[in-house]
Amino acid sequence: MRNINEDTITQAVLASMAGCRDARLREVMTSLVQHVHAFARETKLTEAEWFQGIEFLTRAGHITDDKRQEFILLSDVLGLSMLVTAQNNAKPAGCTEATVFGPFYVDGAPVVDNGADISNGAKGAPCFVSGQVRGIDGKPVPDAALDVWQSDDEGFYDVQKPADGLHEHQARARLYTDAQGRFDFRSILAQHYPIPHDGPVGCMLENLGRHPWRPAHLHFMIQAPGYERLITHVFRDGDKYLDSDAVFGVRSSLIADWKRHDPDARKTGTNEPYYSLQYDFVLNPSKKAA
Ligand code: BEZ
Ligand code: FE
Repeated sequence: MRNINEDTITQAVLASMAGCRDARLREVMTSLVQHVHAFARETKLTEAEWFQGIEFLTRAGHITDDKRQEFILLSDVLGLSMLVTAQNNAKPAGCTEATVFGPFYVDGAPVVDNGADISNGAKGAPCFVSGQVRGIDGKPVPDAALDVWQSDDEGFYDVQKPADGLHEHQARARLYTDAQGRFDFRSILAQHYPIPHDGPVGCMLENLGRHPWRPAHLHFMIQAPGYERLITHVFRDGDKYLDSDAVFGVRSSLIADWKRHDPDARKTGTNEPYYSLQYDFVLNPSKKAA
């Protein structure tokens, strides 16, 4: 293989992978090489621009650690996360739609009983959340594991804040639906917040004239035997960023009314207004169960 030129390089790289024994890996890499080469040809990429791209990815790598995942952010703001989510989560009408996972889920959040306050010191107006998990057949799903996580009123998830040794998990928990598929918990009012934008992805957004904001939402992951896992959000109606979510995750069916209530110190222990959200989830039976 010599004297490879602009016209023969793509074929040469594809041929170099002929010995790959993993058929799917070869399929994915063949497509990736073809598209990356087509991109360089189409844009007539200069050496300086290519090097800028390498520097960008290097900065993304350097800022990434177990708490900060710049590559997920990059995938999110380029719409790739939502594209992969959408094409892998087609469901019959009536099922709750999926949306992006995001980088702030934490394995091993505390398991709490229905009715618990999951805020654990996170700041924000009190918010009571309740609903039911059903199958597409309308039957309640008992014992579904429901993971919930959200940011505080300053727009930060617990994992973005320095640990104080007292509140390891804030505004996140796992609970299980009761015999009627119902769940309820107390938390804080979700607010819109910017995705982390102090790194290369934030810099890219600024250069592209884009903002980093996400509309207010609660994250849910719901798992129950016999059903497909559902990863989704519930968005707050009226939020000014619903039509310009930095990660393209909003679905109309996931927007809900978060009702505002006058203060009731007996209910909340404070003299501030509180909120409530009622939202039901509909799961798709897993293919194995169908
Ligand atoms: C989130 O909603 O937690 C999130 C999603 C994508 C990027 C950053 C944050
Ligand atoms: Fe979020």
